[in-house]
Amino acid sequence: MPLKTKRTGRLVTFEGSEGSGKSTQMSRLAARLEEAGREVVTTREPGGTEIGEQIRNIIVHNSKGDEMSAETELLLFTAARAQVVREVIAPALTRGAIVLSDRYLDSSTVYQGIGRNLAADPVAQINRFAVGNVMPDLTIVIDVPTEVSLARIRQRASDLPDRMERENIDFYKKIREGYLVLAQGLPDRFAVFDGTLSPDVLEKKIWATVRERLG
Ligand code: TYD
Repeated sequence: MPLKTKRTGRLVTFEGSEGSGKSTQMSRLAARLEEAGREVVTTREPGGTEIGEQIRNIIVHNSKGDEMSAETELLLFTAARAQVVREVIAPALTRGAIVLSDRYLDSSTVYQGIGRNLAADPVAQINRFAVGNVMPDLTIVIDVPTEVSLARIRQRASDLPDRMERENIDFYKKIREGYLVLAQGLPDRFAVFDGTLSPDVLEKKIWATVRERLG
């Protein structure tokens, strides 16, 4: 299905390493927008649709996951993205809603492209094929030092870290750096926040940026 949305809504994506606190901040932003009377649709990647959740299980929890090639991983993540953008995001934007997505195409650029060393061009093309013209209006990166995000991951209530979270510290340093470089190159779309701030302070800063950038 070609994607040509005529949209009146806005797409805001949240990016960052695991343990950056982006999911908490995303729900806080959703609450503020709803209080302001806006229709808000939240979604997460990989997932957000039934097909996407099935794909997520293959990638994240598959016991054979360690044998998955970087190319397969990229195609699975972008397959889930192609689904959520058509099933959830594009229709919501057409209705005029504000869509908040916990991760979007920049996760593939950074995790598969930079983290797994896949060539940037095919990653960008595959991403583009998946999302069509549905690009974020604003991308919020929550940046935390790698040591902090790893400590937070370890403290999480969930039992065993999943496959992505077992990656070593060098991988996460690359991810952190990757987001910062990407954000520097696209300052109109990105806003980077310090994830070591208290959740309340961070929430206020994000809210101020959203109001300023989206009007
Ligand atoms: P998940 O537990 O769903 O989310 P999070 O860590 O954001 O709270 O894990 C998703 C994992 O998948 C995470 O390690 C990042 C990774 N990922 C990619 O490598 N590429 C992608 O395109 C996406 C969307 C996620």
